[in-house]
Amino acid sequence: MEFITYEVENQVGIITINRPKALNALNSTVLDELDATLDQVDLEEVRVLILTGAGEKSFVAGADIGEMSSLTKAEGEAFGKKGNDVFRKLETFPIPVIAAINGFALGGGCEISMSCDIRICSDNAVFGQPEVGLGITPGFGGTQRLARIVGVGKAKEMIYGARNIKADEAYRIGLVNNVYPQEELMPAAKKLAATIAKNAPIAVRNCKKAINEGLQVDMDQAIVIEEKLFGDCFETEDQKAGMGNFLEKDKTKKLKVVPFKNR
Ligand code: CAA
Repeated sequence: MEFITYEVENQVGIITINRPKALNALNSTVLDELDATLDQVDLEEVRVLILTGAGEKSFVAGADIGEMSSLTKAEGEAFGKKGNDVFRKLETFPIPVIAAINGFALGGGCEISMSCDIRICSDNAVFGQPEVGLGITPGFGGTQRLARIVGVGKAKEMIYGARNIKADEAYRIGLVNNVYPQEELMPAAKKLAATIAKNAPIAVRNCKKAINEGLQVDMDQAIVIEEKLFGDCFETEDQKAGMGNFLEKDKTKKLKVVPFKNR
């Protein structure tokens, strides 16, 4: 891979977008490589993904403006679909994805972070959808996900005005869960990932599916989605171990979560 690095540590996969000369901007190759990286994740071992950008300045500074500058209408639409397909794959990926946002998260950078389950950032992070200043709309999900995360009014203000916001405002409006000094960001992301990774993997996956799918339908349908995923946890080794340990009142025993390959 030219622009993506992928490593696994303690059941946590770390994907780094590594194109620092262009502030990790997303060209077609980066999108293709990200797609291929997600296909390679070993879901028997890895329980949480962290997505970050290389360097200390930028998470992702957007879609590649040079590549987009000469596109026709049809090519523009196809480029939007290319980004949307990868981001949707990330959003519906079976395991949780944490965005560790280490600097600029503009345009496609803000959009890719919003496809992740949880966003945390460094104190130098800047978020925004500057597309209307470039004569285009946000095209990798920004018109849809920003409003769902921060509310319609705030999203429209940011998008129509092409107004960037700093980390403290992103925290205040709920775009990120926490802000850290730059050097503490990855340790915090790993700590959060470890907290998730120690829990029962089928249950965590089912929670992600229930929350994501439930938000797309009305409450009557949503609770049925929950019931099915709740039921799906029973008879698993994790459920037997987790409840068995509780009932045995033996607090020294750890939850005997087993990797998928042993099920
Ligand atoms: N696409 C292509 N190249 C980019 C880029 C982008 N989105 N963002 C930065 N770069 C490149 C610059 O062209 C520059 O390359 P050279 O050294 O070869 O000239 C290099 O990265 C460093 O950038 P700057 O010199 O501009 O760095 P800076 O510190 O002065 O400014 C910045 C940083 C404010 C992030 C500025 O680079 C910037 O405004 N970038 C564009 C941000 C943007 O508009 N993003 C949205 C893109 S549109 C989009 O994403 C559409 C969509 O929804 C799908």
